[in-house]
Amino acid sequence: MIRPADSRLEVLVASRSALQAELLANGQPRGLEAGSEWISHAGRREHWKLGRYFLISRMQRLLKEGGNPPKLDEFDVVTRNGLGRGTQPRIYLKGRMLPWRLSLSHGGEVFALAVSRDNSARVGIDVVDASAVTRDSLGFWCTPAERKSLLSQDEHALVRNWAMKEAVYKAVNHGEAFSPSHFEIFSDGEKHVCHWRGQEIPLDIASIYPLTNGDYLAAVLIENFRSTRHVETNHRIKNTAACHLISP
Ligand SMILES: CC(C)(COP(=O)(O)OP(=O)(O)OC[C@H]1O[C@@H](n2cnc3c(N)ncnc32)[C@H](O)[C@@H]1OP(=O)(O)O)[C@@H](O)C(=O)NCCC(=O)NCCS
Repeated sequence: MIRPADSRLEVLVASRSALQAELLANGQPRGLEAGSEWISHAGRREHWKLGRYFLISRMQRLLKEGGNPPKLDEFDVVTRNGLGRGTQPRIYLKGRMLPWRLSLSHGGEVFALAVSRDNSARVGIDVVDASAVTRDSLGFWCTPAERKSLLSQDEHALVRNWAMKEAVYKAVNHGEAFSPSHFEIFSDGEKHVCHWRGQEIPLDIASIYPLTNGDYLAAVLIENFRSTRHVETNHRIKNTAACHLISP
């Protein structure tokens, strides 16, 4: 069930098995596997396809709230730029781009989508499959100050830190590669302060959700962000309650 949307950030989650069942029941929409030819691993191709189904089916639901639902076949999804590099998803309906900001993550069994209906905002989301990462692999990418801060926190703090780094990267990058150690994040309970290349990123919403299978989900929304040169120096305190988690 989809609850009424928050005015700034909606977070939708679905399990892989639920999406597979939906696809089986509804039939596969046109063009769902287009662009996946370069993925040789069958499991990863399946994830790609389910990610695209997740995007268009949830867009269909959100648009339905405003009237008649569009057909799934009328959507197109683009998540690569002209150089083949990953980008934030862009959704086209009958050839016209939806003016919403989206971010997608599919980690392990969980698919997650962040949506802002404000086209000027930036959104980012990341699910970390906690069983697939080790403290050493994630710790390698921390700055010395992060390591020191994480030492005093619980054993899952490193996974949460990583999820937040990827979510912020997805929100603010301009096509450059992900350099985890360039993002320095300090979390204290519900507050998160982030620096990127020495500048503070004003996170208007920054939320961490523990998922039932032990994974973590991070979602962020940044308003008024244009480029690193224009990052505000005054950080604002994040509002966890402002972000709805919507289950299918
Ligand atoms: C963004 C990134 C860090 C996420 O990796 P991940 O945690 O393994 O994967 P997630 O499931 O959480 O996120 C993947 C989704 O993020 C989105 N994404 C990919 N690149 C993105 C970017 N630069 N900015 C915002 N979102 C991006 C896509 O929707 C992607 O889904 P898709 O692969 O089905 O198209 C990683 O994809 C990356 O470094 N991308 C940039 C470089 C790149 O594209 N390399 C590959 C080709 S050169």
